[in-house]
Amino acid sequence: MKAERKNDRLWGGRFENAPDARFDAFQRSFAFDRRLLPYEIAVDRTWAKALEGVGIFTEMEVRQTAAALDKISARAQSDRNWLDSSTAEDVHQFVENALVEELGPLGWKLHTGRSRNELVATEFRLFVIDAAADIRKSLLALLDGFLMQAKANLKVPMAGMTHMQHAQPILLSHFLMAHAEAFSRDLTRLGNARAVADACPMGSGALAGCSFPIDRTRLAKELGFSRVTANSLDAVGDRDFALEYLFALAGIATHLSRLAEDFVLFASQEFSYLILPDEYSTGSSLMPQKKNPDAWELLRGKTGRITAALFGLFTTLKGLPSSYQRDLQEDKEALFAAHDQMEDMIRVAHGALVGTKFQVDRLSAAASDPALFATDAADYLVQKGVPFRQAHDLVGKVLREAEKQGKPWTELALEDVRRISRLFEQDFLQGPSVESAIATKVVQGGTAEGRVQAAIAELELKLKQLETKP
Ligand code: ARG
Repeated sequence: MKAERKNDRLWGGRFENAPDARFDAFQRSFAFDRRLLPYEIAVDRTWAKALEGVGIFTEMEVRQTAAALDKISARAQSDRNWLDSSTAEDVHQFVENALVEELGPLGWKLHTGRSRNELVATEFRLFVIDAAADIRKSLLALLDGFLMQAKANLKVPMAGMTHMQHAQPILLSHFLMAHAEAFSRDLTRLGNARAVADACPMGSGALAGCSFPIDRTRLAKELGFSRVTANSLDAVGDRDFALEYLFALAGIATHLSRLAEDFVLFASQEFSYLILPDEYSTGSSLMPQKKNPDAWELLRGKTGRITAALFGLFTTLKGLPSSYQRDLQEDKEALFAAHDQMEDMIRVAHGALVGTKFQVDRLSAAASDPALFATDAADYLVQKGVPFRQAHDLVGKVLREAEKQGKPWTELALEDVRRISRLFEQDFLQGPSVESAIATKVVQGGTAEGRVQAAIAELELKLKQLETKP
């Protein structure tokens, strides 16, 4: 068979005129979808075998195709210029051209019964599955960083806050484990995204299904999928798996951003709760004394890009008719960028976290303000049978008296507090302390040391199990 075609496009046959140059550049995707090349090659390999199963390829042709794909894959890795200088419209055409160069018309035969619509959906799913695994690995390392800091600062008290106002004493390790807890939920979300992506569209054709009775289940297995997609029309137009992955990334970014906000505040002179590592800080070109928490600020700032990628894809998908539409080509760039950004973000957060030195004296001093034990003081009255609302009111009066006298309430004279309630006795003024305020929170999930230790042990076990699982 003579290799003769009208032009070098995948679809030129019915066209009289070539596309406008500006439009042609506008519609190309090779500049970014070349990232799918390893997946295109993997799909091509299995497709040749699937075609053999229905008598379209011979065993010899499968072998020739596989050998050519090996060559293309090796050259793509070593010869960047080959890709840079290509005029291919997309990654699918790039590989087809390369196959034709290697094999002649056999290269064209491979596209029998299939469509780029299913190719791109399949390859993008494979990308998301690998991407989720990479981010999972980075997250596990970040969680290790939290465990390290929580163990190193297990007993350090700090002033727990709500509304950015001192509330009750907690352990610094409890604060660190709170952030770790959020990131371990992100691990679950990444797992969900992976599971949603794990279905193979190949065999869906352009929209209606393949006209040859290929073995879809076998093909899916060979590509590492555990199942096939259920409806061909849905399969070529569905990008929920990409949304799901971006949602998982947006969750991580949001949690990084909240962590960043805590660290930026705690690094300020007003708090001085921590010293940032030099390696993750920058100075001022004007003010010699400055050491700025830029790593955390950029982490907070870059979160916008990740959530934007999620909203962007939602917006692209909204209102699309069923099956494949070219709008769907817009799914990849933002997701690739969000993924790369996220890898960097988690690594920077890990470095900045493990390099942080906590200012134990400052943290403990803030936690020791007796105002933070006011709730425990009310609990004292509750133990004596006073309804909580009344106890709250009586302790409020004690605090007002202390404010009047200009001293902490624990330093008031016993007569002064007994004027407020006869239920107050000497142990009331001596009882509450940072230690007791923390130690009484032994409830599940509380800040008592034993509970934090248990939370650390639990996360350590979970990480060990996850690290050994693929
Ligand atoms: N570059 C396209 C994309 O990313 C591939 C599928 C093209 N299909 C088509 N019928 N034009 O979505």
